[in-house]
Amino acid sequence: MNPLLGSDIRSMAQRSVLCWLATADASGQPNVTPKEIFPVLDDEHIVVANIASPGSAKNIRANAKVCLSFIDVFAQKGYKVLGLGTEAQPTEDGYAHWVAPLRAMAGERFPIHSVFVVRATAVEPIVAPSYRLYPSETSEEKQIESALLAYGVQRSEQGEL
Ligand SMILES: Cc1cc2nc3c(=O)[nH]c(=O)nc-3n(C[C@H](O)[C@H](O)[C@H](O)COP(=O)(O)O)c2cc1C
Repeated sequence: MNPLLGSDIRSMAQRSVLCWLATADASGQPNVTPKEIFPVLDDEHIVVANIASPGSAKNIRANAKVCLSFIDVFAQKGYKVLGLGTEAQPTEDGYAHWVAPLRAMAGERFPIHSVFVVRATAVEPIVAPSYRLYPSETSEEKQIESALLAYGVQRSEQGEL
């Protein structure tokens, strides 16, 4: 059976740079905020650094249902990951396992208060409508070209974004 979080999702998470973490409080009030430190840890877990996210922490403690989405803004595609979130605290057994990849990404400058551990229950692709509405005239390269224009970004001389 294919893992829920396979290598394509792992590499898209890296390319995307930023994710949006959606949580909800006990009454269902949604909260969506960006997180940059969110590596895919293994086939079913994404870990998110709680550096400055008291609202997400409070919600996850009250309501485990979360959704995390990320897209490569240039290719205009990515994934939506639905799952159950828990907050791992530094005092807990096993914390070192969850926090290790986050420390590697965040470095010394950003203190990590706790870790949001998202166990994925479902994954759906996200694509710009053009990919589905106009498949014969849409390619990743064309989407990148139009996104570069829209964001006013120029490639480097090496052709990198
Ligand atoms: C580009 C960007 C990246 C961010 N990355 C993180 C992150 O990895 N971890 C974190 O805790 N906060 C991060 N933040 C800050 C939170 O999004 C911000 O403090 C937000 O208000 C937290 O809301 P919350 O308390 O409702 O979760 C980031 C913000 C921006 C703009």
